[in-house]
Amino acid sequence: MRVVHSPLELQKLLKAEEGSIGFVPTMGALHLGHRTLIDTAKKENDITVVSIFVNPTQFLAGEDLDAYPRKEEADKKICELSGVDYLFYPSAESMYGEDEVSLNAPNVRGYIMEGTSRPGHFSGVLTVVNKLLNIVKPTKAYFGKKDAQQLMLIEMMVANLFMDVEIVPMDTVREKDGLAMSSRNAYLNDKERQESLNIIKSLRIATQMVMRKECSSVEVREAMLEALAPLEVEYVTIVNRAFEPIEKVEIGNTIILVEAISGSTRLLDNIWI
Ligand code: PAF
Repeated sequence: MRVVHSPLELQKLLKAEEGSIGFVPTMGALHLGHRTLIDTAKKENDITVVSIFVNPTQFLAGEDLDAYPRKEEADKKICELSGVDYLFYPSAESMYGEDEVSLNAPNVRGYIMEGTSRPGHFSGVLTVVNKLLNIVKPTKAYFGKKDAQQLMLIEMMVANLFMDVEIVPMDTVREKDGLAMSSRNAYLNDKERQESLNIIKSLRIATQMVMRKECSSVEVREAMLEALAPLEVEYVTIVNRAFEPIEKVEIGNTIILVEAISGSTRLLDNIWI
């Protein structure tokens, strides 16, 4: 495995490679969810590239940029053992200049749900993913469905900017008790960890309800809010696959999304019905 820090050097090295490139962009603190993305990228491509970059532009002032878990040595080992060919580990200075062109998330779908509690977050995500895709020029790039709004916006960016890459959505990987894997789970103390299970409980209740009978979004939302207490709920939203709010849950075309705060940790989860 080759560890590369310079964007231009990686671009040059990958240009000289032959065959398909599978790319997994991450912010590090790698867990089994990332491992699944990497293993799939390896299976489906000739060359596998992983990036680890805690992107400052997607954190708002006062958020956890400095506290975000950084596990450089463990992450390198995981990538090495997973058979990654190139690990891209850039500095913020090498990725950003002072006065730059950047992308804006779309006005509606970039500023609802997580975009409401974190205005501007998705502009930072799209800007960095655009940069990373331009550096790596992958055949396929792999993203988890846990960050469903991020995934949808990246798919929109690729379509809107006519980018030549296939975005591969991957199912959420969960702990044995159902908690969606996330690098931020490391912030939870025992009590918060226990309470955070209300998220998967609420999603399971929603699934059972809609499988049993036709349900309105209002009914499902109410039952979920009850199951989520005492977590602080940022939103429970029910949308179709195009992320438009819907009144009736339609099997095969619905995503139910939750964002809740346990202690001071923001947790996201969703279910695709
Ligand atoms: O999902 C993440 O880890 C990040 O938002 C991403 C896509 C790597 C961009 O920084």
